[in-house]
Amino acid sequence: LFHKHPKEVAFSFDGAFGTFDKAQLQRGFKVYQEVCSNCHSLKQVAFRDLTQLGYNEAEVKAIAKNWGNKAQTFDPKTGDRGDRPNLPSDHFPPVYYAGQGNPPDLSLVAKSRHGGAQYIHSLLTGYTDQVGYKNGQGQELLKMFPDAKTPDGLYFNPYFANLNLAMPQPLTSDGQVTYSDGKAATVDQMALDVSAFLTWTAEPKLDKRKQTGWPVLGFLLAATVLAYLAKRNVWADKH
Ligand code: HEM
Repeated sequence: LFHKHPKEVAFSFDGAFGTFDKAQLQRGFKVYQEVCSNCHSLKQVAFRDLTQLGYNEAEVKAIAKNWGNKAQTFDPKTGDRGDRPNLPSDHFPPVYYAGQGNPPDLSLVAKSRHGGAQYIHSLLTGYTDQVGYKNGQGQELLKMFPDAKTPDGLYFNPYFANLNLAMPQPLTSDGQVTYSDGKAATVDQMALDVSAFLTWTAEPKLDKRKQTGWPVLGFLLAATVLAYLAKRNVWADKH
């Protein structure tokens, strides 16, 4: 394996005590909405799930209604197919992509790709030119095959398993997305935020899962102490 290991970046949800940062998830959603959703679907997620990010019902209703791709409808009586504006209960609608390659649905990609959020962040910020990369340190594969070229229609990215992928660099300039919380929308920040958002779509119950662990551990500890005291009592010398 010659592709690069993801860059080590810290996320609020790392570790046993980590939780999602809702402001970051909202920024990440905005990046998905304005950039990634042009090519990638998010079919496991329903609009109303966005209330978990801190949006209220009216905001979710508006986001659904104004979503670019409409909900598909089918009338079984007439066989007519059509569309209508999305409702909060609808899942994010399919995306029709005419370019080269096959953009995967992003709902679970943070779980299905090794490295998760760190991998997505590195992929989005890792586009580089192949020649410069080859001349750097330790780029074994490209040194072994000095004539290997990135095929037409593919883009070189050392974090991608095959090194060349069909996704053109999606985040190219600072301020590409306008954040409403005042955070500076650098390319790196947008990549971090959308990676966090896609971690939430892949595991919306992450916070809850971590929280339930502690009472369980506390119970086990208390049970151990009781068992120890009971043992001392049972085996005590009784005169
Ligand atoms: C693949 C994320 C925007 C087209 C991927 C993959 C991820 C991803 C995680 C999978 C890589 C892998 O297989 O390991 C994103 C994010 C975006 C974004 C977070 C927004 C910031 C776009 C846009 C387009 C696009 C705007 C279309 C112009 C593709 C294609 C692939 C892909 C065609 C398949 C690549 C291949 O297998 O060769 N994307 N993407 N993506 N994306 Fe995107």
